Amino acid sequence: MTSQGILDGKVALVTGGSRGIGAATAVRLAREGADVAVGYVNGKEAAQDVVREVEALGRRAVALRADAARADEAAGVVDAAAAALGGFDILVNNAGVGVLGPLETLSLAEVDRVLHINVRGVFLASQAAAARMPDGGRIITIGSCMAERVPGPGGTLYTTSKAALAGLTKALARELGARGITANLVLPGPIDTDMNPADGPYAAGQAALTALGRFGTADEVASMVAHLAGATYVTGAEISVDGGHAA
Ligand SMILES: NC(=O)c1ccc[n+]([C@@H]2O[C@H](COP(=O)([O-])OP(=O)(O)OC[C@H]3O[C@@H](n4cnc5c(N)ncnc54)[C@H](OP(=O)(O)O)[C@@H]3O)[C@@H](O)[C@H]2O)c1
Repeated sequence: MTSQGILDGKVALVTGGSRGIGAATAVRLAREGADVAVGYVNGKEAAQDVVREVEALGRRAVALRADAARADEAAGVVDAAAAALGGFDILVNNAGVGVLGPLETLSLAEVDRVLHINVRGVFLASQAAAARMPDGGRIITIGSCMAERVPGPGGTLYTTSKAALAGLTKALARELGARGITANLVLPGPIDTDMNPADGPYAAGQAALTALGRFGTADEVASMVAHLAGATYVTGAEISVDGGHAA
């Protein structure tokens, strides 16, 4: 017997759902009632663990491998999720990579890879999702506090990629609003994950840049994503979940 949630009967895809913010989001959406497709690229076992966690909550789940760097797979995973779970209501564009470093060290291959995963993949998945969704769908994208405030050198490539998502989100909101589809951008601050561990070499400096003086947790971001998945009158918004990094 499963409890009633605000997302009962909805189908969500969380890209990069195998770890970190994405894994927490997949489980949180399931707690609210959604069936969840868990995207991954290398972490098959981790994705299957998340699937089991969702199923333990009484929801349906499937792990789907798709490399967001590849155009066909970035879009195709939306169709695969719809085929596996019988619908498509919520896209969480979470998969991303962080490549930091001095401007002169960033190779063309790195520039292409980061822009393909963090921007082109998000664009193509959103395009595919918009074509699949009924009226009232949700597109929620994970940006970064770095697009609001760049606290030091080394962030040119990552910040370029994350800043592009603000334009995409606003334009999606305008384009899809007539269908009741909302598009919003969540801007996490330093969050304790594999990408940015709270005990990493630069962690203390990042924590000090927040008003709260600490890293956030993946669950703290996931709860905002779940809120936006249920919210009916929020669109085109950029919402910081950053402990006051931008304050
Ligand atoms: N952690 C932070 O401090 C922070 C702050 C601001 C924004 N963010 C953003 O939040 C999002 C999640 O970050 P995180 O910290 O949870 O990262 P993470 O722990 O490194 O997890 C990244 C996730 O993305 C997936 N992924 C990576 N490359 C992919 C590709 N080419 N195709 C498909 N999936 C791919 C990974 O899948 P596999 O398991 O298969 O590798 C994994 O599930 C990212 O967009 C990141 O930029 C993070």
